[in-house]
Amino acid sequence: KHIALFASGSGSNAEKIAEYFADNAQVDVSLVVSNNPKAGVIERSRRLHIPVVLFDRKTFYDTDKITQLLINQNIDLIVLAGFMWLMPAGLVRAFPDKIVNIHPALLPKFGGKGMYGHFVHEAVAAAGETESGITIHYVNERYDEGQIIFQASCPVSPTDTPDDIARKVQVLEHTHYPAVVADVLTSMTTQS
Ligand code: GRF
Repeated sequence: KHIALFASGSGSNAEKIAEYFADNAQVDVSLVVSNNPKAGVIERSRRLHIPVVLFDRKTFYDTDKITQLLINQNIDLIVLAGFMWLMPAGLVRAFPDKIVNIHPALLPKFGGKGMYGHFVHEAVAAAGETESGITIHYVNERYDEGQIIFQASCPVSPTDTPDDIARKVQVLEHTHYPAVVADVLTSMTTQS
């Protein structure tokens, strides 16, 4: 099975996933797609010997290009790991139930446009939530509204800062995302 990782930022989740499958002969992380030439994920990918394809917004939304690239690379699953752009409708249609994303909160709360990165943890802290966590879900054409695959939570105390919450949530991300991706791939194998 071939995975394409999409990331716009530091790429710690992308790295954990690539490391998880590094010695798995059945699963190949074929490429990393990014939209940010300065993203940390580029350096991490170089160290992991994974090719990186950079897109600008115009090219990315000229959907045939990204769709053709992923089809040509025989990609079975697209894994979003901190990718800041909405999936083009054409790509979602070409890869139905084959795009997953991780959101650093317990959807449906704290989701939707603008709810990404630190803003999520600030909102959770400001709301006085007693827990936060991660949501891994299928991607459709609207932010954070696809079918939920997996959630895990962590306690939040009144003294927790957004950074404290971010740290606890990131532990959940790194712990669970690789294994959930493996489960999704397995379920696809049995279906196909
Ligand atoms: C993570 O918080 C993830 O939940 C969200 O974007 C962030 C990516 O972090 N989708 P990293 O680039 O993998 O370190």
